Amino acid sequence: GHLAGKVIDPFRLMEPQLRSLTENLKTLASADNKVLDTVSRYFFDVPGKRFRPALVLLVAQASPPAGEISSEQQRLAEITEMIHTASLLHDDVMDHAEIRRGIPSLNNVHGNKLAILAGDFLLSRASLNLARLKNVEVIELLSTVIAHLVEGEIMQSRTETLEATNFDYYMRKTYLKTASLLAHSCKGVVLLGRAEESLKDSASEVAFEYGKHIGLAFQIQDDVLDFEGDLQSLGKTPGSDLREGLTTAPVLFALEKFSHELEPMIHRCYKGEGDVERTMQLVKLSDGIAKSRELALEHSRLAIESANKFEPSVTRDALVQLAHLVASCSC
Ligand code: FPP
Ligand code: MG
Ligand code: MG
Repeated sequence: GHLAGKVIDPFRLMEPQLRSLTENLKTLASADNKVLDTVSRYFFDVPGKRFRPALVLLVAQASPPAGEISSEQQRLAEITEMIHTASLLHDDVMDHAEIRRGIPSLNNVHGNKLAILAGDFLLSRASLNLARLKNVEVIELLSTVIAHLVEGEIMQSRTETLEATNFDYYMRKTYLKTASLLAHSCKGVVLLGRAEESLKDSASEVAFEYGKHIGLAFQIQDDVLDFEGDLQSLGKTPGSDLREGLTTAPVLFALEKFSHELEPMIHRCYKGEGDVERTMQLVKLSDGIAKSRELALEHSRLAIESANKFEPSVTRDALVQLAHLVASCSC
C-alpha cells in the first residue's frame, strides 16, 4: 500500500536516477574540442534541482507498466534537460543575465559567442540522442517543443504591443515558453514505455495534461514571486520582470482595478521614472497577487487530477506532491 502521500519528497524518491542522469549529462555534452567541452558542460557541473528530469522520470515510473523506467525513458529525461539548458544559455545572452543557478552565467564568463555556440551544441546533442531513440513520434514531439520555446520568447519580447495586456496572450506565451517542454516530454516518456499501444495512447494524454498544468502553475507562481520574493529567496532582485519590460499575471489582474494608471506604464515597458516601483505598489494594492496564486493553484489542481488517473503508487503520490510544491512556491 502507499501511506502518507503528503510527506513524500519527489526529488529524494528519484535520487539514484537523478544522480546517474547528472553523470550522463556530462558525458552527453562532452566534446573533443577543449573549449567546446568546457562551455557545453558548464551548467552540468553545478548541482541543481533538476525539476524537469525529476518530473519526467516520475511520470515514466508512474505510467504503465508502473514501477519501471527503461533506458530510453531515462535518456529522454536527459534530452529534456539538454534542451532546457540550451534555451537558458541563449536566454541569458538575450537577457544580459550575469548569474544563473548561483554561479556567473556562461555569457558572463566566456562571452556571448561561446554561450550561443554552447547552446547550439547542446541542441545538436539533444537531437542526436533523440534520433537514437528511433521513435519518430517522440522526435516530432520534442522538435515541436524547440519551435515553441522560440515562439514563446518572441511573444514575450513584444512588450510594447496592445497584446501585452491580453490575458489569453499571456497564457499562450506561458504555455509555449514553459509548459510545452514539460507537456511534450511527459507525453514522450510514456510513448517510450513498454506498455501495449492501446494503453499508451490514453496514458500519454494523461501525462501531457499533467505536464502542461504543472508547467503553467510553475510559471505563474514564478511570476508571482517576482513581486513577493526577496533577493535571498529568489537568487535575483524582485521586480526584474518589470525592469525587463515584462507584464505578467499579477499586473494583468491589477489592471482590472487600476487600468487608467497601469496601461500607459505597461505600454512604455515601465521605462518611465518610478514606473517599476509604482506598478509594484498598485499590484500590492489590488488583488493581483491573490488572483494569480489562485490561478496557479487551479492549474496545480488540474495537474493533480491528471496524476490521479494513473494507478495508485508511491510514485503517483510523488507526482501529486510535486504539483502541491509547485503551487506553494517551494520548487
Ligand atoms: C527562461 O525565461 C527562458 C525560457 C524558459 C526559454 C527561452 C527560450 C529561448 C531563448 C529560445 C529557444 C532557444 C533554444 C536553444 C531552444 P526567463 O528569462 O523568464 O527566466 P530566467 O529568470 O530563468 O532567466
Ligand atoms: Mg532570463
Ligand atoms: Mg528571458
